Amino acid sequence: MCGVVGILLKTGNAVPDVIEGLSRLEYRGYDSAGVLTINNQNFQKVRAVGKLESLKNELRSAPLSGAIAIGHTRWATHGGVTIDNAHPHESGRVAIVHNGIIENHRYLKKLVQDQGYQCTTDTDTEVIAHLIDYYLRLGNEHHIAVQKTLNQLEGTFSIVAVFKDRPSLMIGARHGSPLAFSVSEHGSFIASDAIALSLWSNHVCYLEDKDMIIIDDHKVVVLDEHGQPIERPFKNISHLNLHSDKLGYSHYMLKEIFEQPQVVHDTFSSLLNDDESDIKLDARLESILMSAKRIKIVACGTSYYAGLLCQYWMEAYGHMGVDVEIASEFRYRQPYLGDTDLAILISQSGETIDTLASLDLLKSQNIPTLGIVNVLESSLMRRSDFYIQTLAGTEVSVASTKAFSAQITVLLALVFKKIEPSDRELKIKKFLNIPKHMNCVLDQFDDIMKLCNPLIQSKDVIYMARGMNTPIAFEGALKLKELSYINAQGYPAGELKHGPIALIDESLYAVVIAPSNDCLPKTLSNVQEILARGGKVILVTDHHSKIDSINPYPQHIYRLPDCDAIFQPFLTVMIMQMLAFGVANLKGQDVDQPRNLAKSVTVE
Ligand code: G6P
Repeated sequence: MCGVVGILLKTGNAVPDVIEGLSRLEYRGYDSAGVLTINNQNFQKVRAVGKLESLKNELRSAPLSGAIAIGHTRWATHGGVTIDNAHPHESGRVAIVHNGIIENHRYLKKLVQDQGYQCTTDTDTEVIAHLIDYYLRLGNEHHIAVQKTLNQLEGTFSIVAVFKDRPSLMIGARHGSPLAFSVSEHGSFIASDAIALSLWSNHVCYLEDKDMIIIDDHKVVVLDEHGQPIERPFKNISHLNLHSDKLGYSHYMLKEIFEQPQVVHDTFSSLLNDDESDIKLDARLESILMSAKRIKIVACGTSYYAGLLCQYWMEAYGHMGVDVEIASEFRYRQPYLGDTDLAILISQSGETIDTLASLDLLKSQNIPTLGIVNVLESSLMRRSDFYIQTLAGTEVSVASTKAFSAQITVLLALVFKKIEPSDRELKIKKFLNIPKHMNCVLDQFDDIMKLCNPLIQSKDVIYMARGMNTPIAFEGALKLKELSYINAQGYPAGELKHGPIALIDESLYAVVIAPSNDCLPKTLSNVQEILARGGKVILVTDHHSKIDSINPYPQHIYRLPDCDAIFQPFLTVMIMQMLAFGVANLKGQDVDQPRNLAKSVTVE
């Protein structure tokens, strides 16, 4: 993970811009940060452990200034969260910032130590700086020294390097981890993504894998993997949705939870034809989908749970086989793809490394790929055969909420496409009302917050459901553990007796999603089994379920607004999100930036 920024200005101080850029990249990691500039052929740097705010505080007491500067916001992979391990790292004439993992760093460390370099950090990054300096000392040109170093690195990385003897030279390289650049009348800018670059220009150029960029006195040259100069296209990013104000909400997560009815409406509307009677898709994608017998969905984290929900929907309503895969497993398990007609890759960021590697694998087997992705111009969007953008807007909170609702909206639209046209039109009409129902759930925010009090003392919480709410139970458990650090696990309710029941005692809480359907009596039996063993239950059901006779009675009951069963996950997931938010908030945790997490997972 990690975010990198490099800026070379024509005049003025690049440090405030670097800090501003880093603030846009903090979603990539936020355990420490640093910035470095060059003055009188000397490196000057300030680093701080903690969020970017700590670095800003340090800079207030020890200001830095220089026309060239590089900066980094870190998500630790190798080496603890310490000042020494924070980037930038320097060696002799070079200083670098790095995103990614150098897998052969142990071997390289020995190599540079044999050449007399002392390794003073626990990072995998430090060897890059030593190697570049080593090749400089051998008399190589700066970009050759970088190129020779890159040739020795294994793993995924993007780097930006500056040199104390050439303060108007900045070199960036991309190998697996994203890197883009822009130029303006004020200077040249390199960063991990367009969100940061949009501060300085509406046009950005995304480097391709194994590209190197050399910015020498504001002349920009991009070299491809063979070292040949190459023109890469610039993209207009003025339409990037960068709105990142809390708009009066206490937290971004809360704002994003409340934005969901609008996001679902906007995303669904973008997929409708003019008279709102049908789903409109790219003609070629439509023909592949309509004739498809089996699709494969690949994703990670919350996006994976969106895929799981699609499996329930598509098999029940679209009558098509769906396999759902965790990308980090899929990419390495030599999957059988003989019967796969279409692969759908779901990703909010569009940069998750395992999802992108799965995309490459699918493409190498000539499987048509559809990316469902939130971030415009992300790698997944650019590299998939087809894409559908989820219109969630910028999701700032690390824990995903509105992106999930937007993803399942797109997936449901694909399901609609596979059902009979007459039924399709009816379902579309009904779904257009779902944002209203979602608002009804949001109106009960205060009641839902009351359910959070008992949960804060729990050490373990289990989430259970049957049918299409099962992925929502998984997502609920994920949200709670991400935000409140309480151990939470989601189960299909039928699995209770196969293990989780052993966990039940007076301290255990179970969140059970059980709307009235054919499975309700079975799930209520599971509820009784929990209560009989002293466990406590928060039951999420609807107004039609008959539960008065059950004994013992659940401690807390929440009743959903009425809606068709197929659409219930849009409501139940918001309750799960609000519970996780409320518990974390009551516990005083950092809701928007939970410990150890990052929003974009660009390393394995
Ligand atoms: C990280 C984020 C999750 C997200 C997952 C997949 O773990 O913290 O919120 O669901 O990555 O990310 P993607 O961008 O591929 O949806």
